[in-house]
Amino acid sequence: MISRLLRIKPMSMLSAEAGEQGEHTLKRSLGAVNLITLGIGAIIGAGIFVLTGTAAANNAGPAVSLSFVLAGITCAFAGLCYAEFASIIPIAGSAYTYGYATLGELVAWIIGWDLCLEYGFGAATVASGWSGYFTALLAQFHIYIAPQFTATPGAKLVFFKSEWMPLASLPSGIDGSLLPHATGAFNLVAFLAILVVTSVLVIGIKESANLNSVIVFVKLTVVAIFIIVGGWFLIKHPDLATHNWHPFIPKADGHGNFGMNGIAVGAASVFFAYIGFDAVSTAAQEAKNPKRDMPIGILGSLVICTVLYIIVSTILTGLVNYKALNVAAPVALGIKVTGVSWGELLVTIGAVFGLGTVMLVMLLGQSRVLYSMSKDGLLWHWVSAIHPKFRTPWISTIVVGVLVAVMPAFFDVEQLSKLVNIGTLLAFTIVSAGVWVLRVRRPDLPRPFKTPLVPLVPILGIISALFLMTRLPLFTWKVMIGWLLFGLIIYFSYSRKHSKVQQMKNAQAAD
Ligand code: ALA
Repeated sequence: MISRLLRIKPMSMLSAEAGEQGEHTLKRSLGAVNLITLGIGAIIGAGIFVLTGTAAANNAGPAVSLSFVLAGITCAFAGLCYAEFASIIPIAGSAYTYGYATLGELVAWIIGWDLCLEYGFGAATVASGWSGYFTALLAQFHIYIAPQFTATPGAKLVFFKSEWMPLASLPSGIDGSLLPHATGAFNLVAFLAILVVTSVLVIGIKESANLNSVIVFVKLTVVAIFIIVGGWFLIKHPDLATHNWHPFIPKADGHGNFGMNGIAVGAASVFFAYIGFDAVSTAAQEAKNPKRDMPIGILGSLVICTVLYIIVSTILTGLVNYKALNVAAPVALGIKVTGVSWGELLVTIGAVFGLGTVMLVMLLGQSRVLYSMSKDGLLWHWVSAIHPKFRTPWISTIVVGVLVAVMPAFFDVEQLSKLVNIGTLLAFTIVSAGVWVLRVRRPDLPRPFKTPLVPLVPILGIISALFLMTRLPLFTWKVMIGWLLFGLIIYFSYSRKHSKVQQMKNAQAAD
């Protein structure tokens, strides 16, 4: 029984799948630059545009830039491990496939199910943030969507300074009861956003990747303008920066925030900003030369974003005192301080497009993980059905799109983002362990990219990811465990009986 659960997927089977061609397979059309842009498209999003401010104000103060360093180091360890796997096993399933090849079917199932927590809930979280930026953008042109269709049911909204905002983010001293107010009914904006992104994905990967490249360019331009305009302003006004950066690490508040622990709690929160580089590996079967380009895509996008995040968070906390950063659009607030009038509009536009690509890559990752699980017989056959013309897994893309679209319409995004973090950190832990295990079990495998210093790097990857998980609230642990138990019910009632690896091994045993 135990040995059945630990059955691994043979490398020969994986290599055969990686080499499959024809009209019922995914189309190989992505090069190294496409993969880096795919990564950046997934990475820069709600994390830097929203969570930087919250983490600075509530957890770390100006030392939020150190939180970015800490989270970035954690991702670097995991990224090196992902890169080795992606170069050996260029198959669409990412961490799920790596787990299957090394730690056995049950662990693979757990990671695959866990990745749904990451990609599906991640796309839902970002869609909700996107709806906030989109309505703010329209408000700048005095166009207003009925507020009840822009928020989760029951959310209290007020109309202040020409825009609808959550009652809770009203500046102190303003009496909300005297302002026009509304109660959220259904986040129709987020719902429609996910449906549009889903349609793009059904039509095709090449089209999606090209659209992504254009939007990533817009997003990077906006970030660059923030760095240049904000950085120049701070050079001209060094007193402002000195004042706002002091104290750099505010004293601990006794509730786990600020001080050294605050930096770690901040890192567990801004970790969301890095999620996405791993999604590059889910596109392995669509890469032209995956063995060379997957490591470039994963590590290249991670390095570029880490550098940008550290610079942006340092400039942001220099421009605005950290205590004032707990707002929906902190980066827009930062550029406003410089007096560059078009800055706020530009940042809002950048966020609208930027968050759009994050949704795209997250949903792409989600459908590809499900595709791989279904090809292995662990999920129903229709999940991996490929459209004959578009050559995309269209049915699962549509089903996932509809389910994800409903989530931000009804659920609290604050909690969703933390759930995404815990799910992703768990996947990182398992992938790091997997690299080490595979080195021991199969030292002979050709490895176009090798993680340096094994087992040190995988061990540091495991320790750092587990450490950040301990900095997340208890409810995230409870939901994650509940989610995994639900997944195990599906595994034991369906997947185990239909698994192709199990069937193959049973047939071999009968011979
Ligand atoms: N890293 C992505 C974001 O920040 C998930 O939106």
